[in-house]
Amino acid sequence: MQVVNTVKDLRDWVLSTKENGQSIGLVPTMGFLHEGHLALVESAKSENDVVVMSIFVNPAQFGPNEDFDRYPRDFERDSLLAEQAGVDVIFSPPVEEMYPRKSQITMGAGTLADVLCGKSRPGHFDGVLKVVTKLFHLVQPDTAYFGQKDAQQLAIIESLVRDFDFPLEIHRIATVREQDGLAKSSRNVYLSETERAEAPKLYQSLQRGVTAARDGKDPIPEMTRFIQSETSGKIDYIELLSYPDLTKAPNGQAILALAVQFQKARLIDNIIFNLK
Ligand code: PAJ
Repeated sequence: MQVVNTVKDLRDWVLSTKENGQSIGLVPTMGFLHEGHLALVESAKSENDVVVMSIFVNPAQFGPNEDFDRYPRDFERDSLLAEQAGVDVIFSPPVEEMYPRKSQITMGAGTLADVLCGKSRPGHFDGVLKVVTKLFHLVQPDTAYFGQKDAQQLAIIESLVRDFDFPLEIHRIATVREQDGLAKSSRNVYLSETERAEAPKLYQSLQRGVTAARDGKDPIPEMTRFIQSETSGKIDYIELLSYPDLTKAPNGQAILALAVQFQKARLIDNIIFNLK
């Protein structure tokens, strides 16, 4: 496995890989890898000749009061896990390499960012679009892999690719969970012992909500009560929307999603399902 830190080295590698006629799978991450990330690698491995994983904690997608500085990082461990999973190249640039100068050009997710996480994290998805666009141009993958855990991000990136004719495919990977149902996340390490014990209630509330929604009921009041009585977290949002267009009043494919703030970790989770 190669570790590449500069745009030049990456471009050289991409050029020779393309010349050899090899297909490239890209798995963008912010590191602190867990089995969710590795599930993306597994699909990328099975569908491409070579796999590039980017590990870059992207400052552009963190708000001023968010956890950019204390976002968990462990490159040694990540490179070991990536190598074991069969990653061919890790692209891990320093911030100055990725953003050498202040850009005047911005990208906006539009109304897709008016709901769910976009509402409480202004600018977050614009920062995701910025880094993902750069990664797509640098790596030139045939296919890029994203997890359903971050379903709004996935919908926005699918829209980016479609609306701006990026010559690549996006593959969605189902959410990988702990045995007790908690969605795997790099931020789970922030949970206290008590919060960790409460956290599986979020997925349970989503499951109950899906049943209620399929029965034609509004799932949100009951989910709110359940989370408030079973956890110490503060609800940021619970929303039922159509998916992937993220508009109100779904009747076909829908997403039931929530974000709950614990002391040091804001957890998100969702279920995508058919209402009818
Ligand atoms: P990060 O949070 O590191 O996640 C990288 C990828 O792993 C994303 O596509 C995310 O949806 C997926 N993922 C995370 N947890 C998962 C789980 N439990 N099951 C399945 N997939 C999971 O998302 C980002 O980084 C960044 O926003 C990024 C796209 C890299 C841009 O900076």
